[in-house]
Amino acid sequence: MEIISNPTPDEIKRAANALIDGHLVAFPTETVYGLGADAANEKAVSRIYSVKGRPIGHPLIVHISSIEQLKNWAKNIPDYAIKLAREFWPGPMTLILERSALAKDFITGGQDNVGLRVPANPIALALLTEFEKIGGVGIAAPSANRFGAVSPTTSEAVEEEIGKFLAQEDSILDGGPCRVGIESTIIDCTKDLPKILRPGAITEEMIEKVIFINKISTYSVNNVKTSGVLDSHYSPKANVVLNALANPGDGLLAMEGIPTPIGVTRLASPKNAEQYARELYKALRSGDQKEIKRIVVIPPDGDGMAVAVRDRLSKAESG
Ligand code: TXA
Ligand code: MG
Repeated sequence: MEIISNPTPDEIKRAANALIDGHLVAFPTETVYGLGADAANEKAVSRIYSVKGRPIGHPLIVHISSIEQLKNWAKNIPDYAIKLAREFWPGPMTLILERSALAKDFITGGQDNVGLRVPANPIALALLTEFEKIGGVGIAAPSANRFGAVSPTTSEAVEEEIGKFLAQEDSILDGGPCRVGIESTIIDCTKDLPKILRPGAITEEMIEKVIFINKISTYSVNNVKTSGVLDSHYSPKANVVLNALANPGDGLLAMEGIPTPIGVTRLASPKNAEQYARELYKALRSGDQKEIKRIVVIPPDGDGMAVAVRDRLSKAESG
């Protein structure tokens, strides 16, 4: 396994070729690092599951370079989904759409819909563009962590999570820390109205503004399989406890204004919800590195990005 820092155009071409040859390439996106495989190659995609230790049948998001590629993967695309794609791609948003014949069961987990995203990170976009130039149609990529663990937001975290499971010809592209820090907003676009399945940086308010509806629903309880909505997810090794009093020996993650009691290790002090999202997974990881057994977390208040941060925290807690 090779780690390539700030890849040059030639190194990105090499990585695109490695994907076509069936190898895995972990790459930065603006949300979290993804573990990529050629979405048309069943054998390559199956390696994602073994490297992550992920149960078979969980659907994967297919990454594409532009809205132009949408119709390769999806059909009967509703107008509101096109509006959302035009407004927020490239960006931290995944659309669930009715699948085309290209989206095989090994991508969708046997469901009739497929998750699609155009990421905004320049390395991710360059990789996708090169990959499509040499015949690729999309890169399947879950977050590059072991199943159930915290998503990686740096290449070091990717190496720590899955480095020992990658093969010699797999690689990790390093593009520094992720700008957003938590996974994309997932929007189910298979019905008359959109539904948020996983909150993220594209917020409910932003979506409503673009498609002129009043109150879209969040957290569907339909039968769409989203491992991110399983109860226990995004968990570090430490015990995460929300809104508790921190005792000596504990770690603490809370907004800037909240003081650190004596003997408590402060893991982050974000100034706002955006910074909270950006630092969240790194802070949880650093608690594990410091072998802290219990991390007390005071979630951020309010709408917007705070909703997504609270979502991840509530899942880290029940883990
Ligand atoms: O920000 C992100 O979305 C990152 C980066 C790498 O793009 N990817 C990511 O992938 O978070 P993953 O696999 O860790 O989480 C994607 C979630 C999973 O819970 C999966 O079950 C759900 O999306 N998903 C994927 N395809 C789906 C589909 N067709 N229907 C319902 N849920 C789907
Ligand atoms: Mg994940």
